[in-house]
Amino acid sequence: MIRTAAAPAPREVREVSYCDAAIEIAAVLAGEPDRVAKMATVAAMLSQRFDHYFWTGFYVVDPLKPDELVVGPYQGTLGCLRIAFGRGVCGAAATRRETIVVPDVHAFAGHIACDSRSQSEIVVPVFDAAGRMVAVFDVDATEPAAFDAADARGLEEIMRVVFAS
Ligand code: SME
Repeated sequence: MIRTAAAPAPREVREVSYCDAAIEIAAVLAGEPDRVAKMATVAAMLSQRFDHYFWTGFYVVDPLKPDELVVGPYQGTLGCLRIAFGRGVCGAAATRRETIVVPDVHAFAGHIACDSRSQSEIVVPVFDAAGRMVAVFDVDATEPAAFDAADARGLEEIMRVVFAS
C-alpha cells in the first residue's frame, strides 16, 4: 500500500497545534542538553502530531564540511544522505539562512526528489544559542501547497525554543 499524508488542517487549527506542540516538546526535553536527542524527539513528536507531514527531519551542518548538510534524525521514507549548500530546497535554505516554503516542488529549480510522492515542502534553518546555524529542519507533504506562513512561524518558534535557548 502506498502511504500518503493528509491535507493540512485549517490555518487556525494548525496555529493552535504548533503552540501545543511547542509546550509538549519543551516539557519532554526539559533538562536535556544532547542535540541528537532533541532532534529525534522533535522529528517524532511533530510527525505524529501533524497529518499533513509525510517526511519530517533534520539535515545537520557537517562540522567537517561546513558547506555540506548530512542527514540527521528523521521520520519517513529513506532520505538522501548529503546535500551541498545551495542545492535543493534544503541547501537553498541553508545558504540563505531563512525559511523556504515551496508550494510545488516541481516548480522549484534544483529540488531534490528523495521520494517522488512529495509535492510540497518547508525548510526552516536551525540556530544554536550563539546564532550559529547547526541544521535545517525539512518537512515534505504529499499534498500540494500543504505549508504556509502558519507552519513557518510555528516551526521557527519551536526550533528557537529547543535549540537556541
Ligand atoms: N527535497 C529536499 C531533499 C530532502 S528530502 O525531501 C528528504 C531538497 O530539495 O532539499
